[in-house]
Amino acid sequence: MNRWPFSLAASGESMDAPTGHDQNVDQIAYWNGPDGQRWADRQVAQDIVLGPVADALIERASVKPGERIIDIGCGSGATTVSFAQRVGPTGHVLGIDISAPMLARARQTAPAQLPIDYVLADATVHPFDPASADLLASRFGVMFFADPALSFANMRKALKPSGRLAFACWREPRENPFFMAPLQAVHKHVPKLPPLGPDDPGPFAFASEARVHRILGEAGFSAIAMEPCNLALDVAAGGGVEAATHGVLEIGPSSRALEGHPADVRAAAVDSVREALQPYVRGESVLLPASIWIVTARAS
Ligand SMILES: C[S@@+](CC[C@H](N)C(=O)[O-])C[C@H]1O[C@@H](n2cnc3c(N)ncnc32)[C@H](O)[C@@H]1O
Repeated sequence: MNRWPFSLAASGESMDAPTGHDQNVDQIAYWNGPDGQRWADRQVAQDIVLGPVADALIERASVKPGERIIDIGCGSGATTVSFAQRVGPTGHVLGIDISAPMLARARQTAPAQLPIDYVLADATVHPFDPASADLLASRFGVMFFADPALSFANMRKALKPSGRLAFACWREPRENPFFMAPLQAVHKHVPKLPPLGPDDPGPFAFASEARVHRILGEAGFSAIAMEPCNLALDVAAGGGVEAATHGVLEIGPSSRALEGHPADVRAAAVDSVREALQPYVRGESVLLPASIWIVTARAS
């Protein structure tokens, strides 16, 4: 079965893929396969698109010089670098990710003088230094665990008793034209993929407030708070509507929905997506509304 956003087939899995928790094998295959590679290839544009999310997260995380931070699911490393710039030479940031192609990109692009280490590992089982970190942080890197309470309990062990958690995750699809405007245009041409269940890993796995409170509570966190944050994300990355049209079809749900369909269907979908984006065009930007949570909690 091929359910968006994850192909359960491990086709294209990289030889460099890490081992991890048994239940995360599909995710490890996905982020090390062609999709993970496309994320890595889109790093420059994607970091512009998601820049406002990084800004909101970093502001709420209240990072101080000298702090030790772990960036969970750091991907190609944009937030890892931003955190490292804030903690300065007396601090440290560890970026952890299961995706070899994205981590390779992160290693290539990290400025040499910054206090950063990267590790290719599953955050569910990685033996973090106990009680060593001030902050666990993530931009969209924590919604892909098969057993999130187990993963968060493991990550929490890395925090000092005074440590804290801050991450960004997506709210419901209906609140996110960022995904739904292009996807609805694509669905004019191809059938919908079977939806994920509410507990399945995926971008919307933490949309439910009740679920996030339950998971973090089970993992031992306290003072759990979820702040809604509404943004307009430039899916064109300043490159105009044509860049936006192709960008939204490169990764994510619209790309997955079109996978395996013939060229003429794809071409028709491209035209529909271009049309669907028109109301959001502002000069060379295409600003799609996006709704996220900024989740914060304390280790104890
Ligand atoms: C949507 S991407 C976000 C990447 C990056 N944080 C960003 O904002 O560009 C999700 C990331 O989570 C990583 N990931 C998924 N499951 C993971 C796990 N169990 N341990 C570590 N990283 C994981 C993926 O490899 C991927 O890089």
